[in-house]
Amino acid sequence: MFRIERAGPADMAGVYRVCRLTGDVGEDATALYLDPDLCGHVWAGAYLAQEGGTQLLAVDDEGLAGYLISTDDTAAFDAWAEAHWWPPLRVRYPRSDEDTPSARLIRRMHDPQQRTPAIVARYPAHFHIDLLRRARGSGMGRRLIERLLAELQERRIAGVHMGVAQRNANALGFYEHLGFRVLEAGGGGVTLGMPLA
Ligand SMILES: CC(C)(COP(=O)(O)OP(=O)(O)OC[C@H]1O[C@@H](n2cnc3c(N)ncnc32)[C@H](O)[C@@H]1OP(=O)(O)O)[C@@H](O)C(=O)NCCC(=O)NCCS
Repeated sequence: MFRIERAGPADMAGVYRVCRLTGDVGEDATALYLDPDLCGHVWAGAYLAQEGGTQLLAVDDEGLAGYLISTDDTAAFDAWAEAHWWPPLRVRYPRSDEDTPSARLIRRMHDPQQRTPAIVARYPAHFHIDLLRRARGSGMGRRLIERLLAELQERRIAGVHMGVAQRNANALGFYEHLGFRVLEAGGGGVTLGMPLA
């Protein structure tokens, strides 16, 4: 009953909504953040705003129920975000040293994720996948990732990685079941990867 569609310019609002509804280790993060757009700004919007990559949606009769968003080239994506995505957000959301969920997420705009150069070189693509509860557990995650892997191989991308919170045991089990292997772990996060060539 779920179908895969490509994301287009009209899907930014839906992707932000799914990002917020899965933003607390897979559960609804709405109550965590004063501003409902924060999750989308930090985790999702840039993938739709830049050109290229594989941007997929899981859709049913109730609408958008999940996404897989990605880039083929993490280094180029980070450089694009540094030039175009983060600067206006840093103006709108000034850094604060408060110990609140909102302040912690806003600090990610100011101090974007530090990546390990050897991982980016060997596994240049990366992705995020988030499904609403109604789309989970029936093979949709596998279908989206298999579509991504096929498209990356067609484009001759050497490998793909992704980051996951250490406490997200469900996602870790899912990725390892699909053949991803842990590349590094620390600071509450785990990076997994898969070589494609
Ligand atoms: C993680 C997520 C994408 C998985 O998608 P899903 O649709 O629930 O998973 P699927 O039904 O496609 O499962 C695919 C396979 O993985 C297996 N699997 C799923 N979860 C697993 C787990 N925790 N441990 C081991 N295997 C698991 C399934 O049994 C299935 O096996 P099979 O295809 O060999 O029969 C989805 O649960 C989700 O969006 N969760 C909330 C958001 C989230 O945590 N995102 C990841 C952030 S990094």
